Amino acid sequence: MRIVHVLGTRPNFVKMAPLIAAISRRSPDWDQSIVHTGQHYDRMMSEIFFEQLGVPAPDFMLEVGSGSHAQQTARVMERLEPLLVENRPDLVVVPGDVNSTVAAALTAVKLDIPVAHLEAGLRSYDRTMPEEINRIITDQIADILWVHSEEALRNLELEGIPAERAHFVGNTMIDSLVALQDRFRPLETCRQFGLEPGSYLLVTLHRPALVDGPLLFEAVDALNQVSTMMPVLFPVHPRTRARLAGNAKLAENLHLVDPAGYLEFLSLESDAGAVLTDSGGIQEETTYLGIPCFTLRDNTERPVTIELGTNVLLGLDPARIEEIPTMIASREHETQAGTAAPPQPPPLWDGHAADRIARLLRL
Ligand code: UD1
Ligand code: UDP
Repeated sequence: MRIVHVLGTRPNFVKMAPLIAAISRRSPDWDQSIVHTGQHYDRMMSEIFFEQLGVPAPDFMLEVGSGSHAQQTARVMERLEPLLVENRPDLVVVPGDVNSTVAAALTAVKLDIPVAHLEAGLRSYDRTMPEEINRIITDQIADILWVHSEEALRNLELEGIPAERAHFVGNTMIDSLVALQDRFRPLETCRQFGLEPGSYLLVTLHRPALVDGPLLFEAVDALNQVSTMMPVLFPVHPRTRARLAGNAKLAENLHLVDPAGYLEFLSLESDAGAVLTDSGGIQEETTYLGIPCFTLRDNTERPVTIELGTNVLLGLDPARIEEIPTMIASREHETQAGTAAPPQPPPLWDGHAADRIARLLRL
């Protein structure tokens, strides 16, 4: 069996690392290659993840870089096609919902090469999100769909996708977190920024709906307010950094820093008093860690993090950020009074999703 994995962005690396390792363990006789599209390319958005997660160096680099949606998608397709024609793998694996995902799936399927989609079936039901279009197309054309939650299975069923294509395996992003617990728990990375564990709000924001317009500056104003009550640490995604372009006024306790390495970020997350985000993966990680999470979006494709986890949807409304310290205090009060149910990880978010996939592939 010859498998080609196509990866392009920060969350792709986190999702795929355990799967590549699990297949190597279970099927050492199989040939796996890694194609890095180059959608993310800064060291702190790419290389650091390969190093910390122990992913083998990519066999092929497509170096597509940044661009419009059409440019990025087209470049991946043009550069991947000759490689797949020459190598003719038995399976192409694509993770998540980024432009590299849909581009690779389309390229492979048109060459009649089977495609497996990791993290299939997520839906925000908001087609203004570029990721939603990528998810719908990838799920429709993929042959094998690995699903991380029961609601994702229902979404696929509603779109008429045959049940035998979908497999409920669990969450490989949580596999990565579980595998690295012993390494990130003792780090206390927050102390490098002069912060005490449990004391600060950790922030990440990168969705175009928020950061590509004036809402970003409203969010910074609200964070300035919050920082008078609790320190705020904001590792800034390069998209957001480009939009801020040094134009935001920052209060003393609002710290804008570079993107963190994966181990350092997990340490910051697990030691945070709360997290404010619009990231998909971080809604999941905080659910597993039991850290209060506030999501600055109108919807989420991960409703299980609200039903079973700690996630609260604030809406795409930066003014609501100022309510966070009060909401944290009332949650702490409920916890102390014993009236809050302790958060439980969703079913199969247990650190063994990749093993399940490797077993299914071997059947
Ligand atoms: C992409 C995904 C998004 C995912 C996010 C994870 C799509 C449509 N979007 O968004 O779903 O949540 O990755 O982080 O695929 N840039 C750099 N250095 C880098 C990478 C990006 O400076 O290494 C800057 C460039 O200015 C670029 C911008 O960030 O134009 C956006 O990058 P891009 O990959 O197009 O989208 P993301 O916002 O990262
Ligand atoms: N992450 C990281 N450093 C950071 C911010 C995030 O290592 O500074 C990790 C985080 O732990 C998670 C993943 O990157 O595993 C989430 O990526 P992102 O938010 O960029 O993408 P999304 O999940 O929204 O697609």
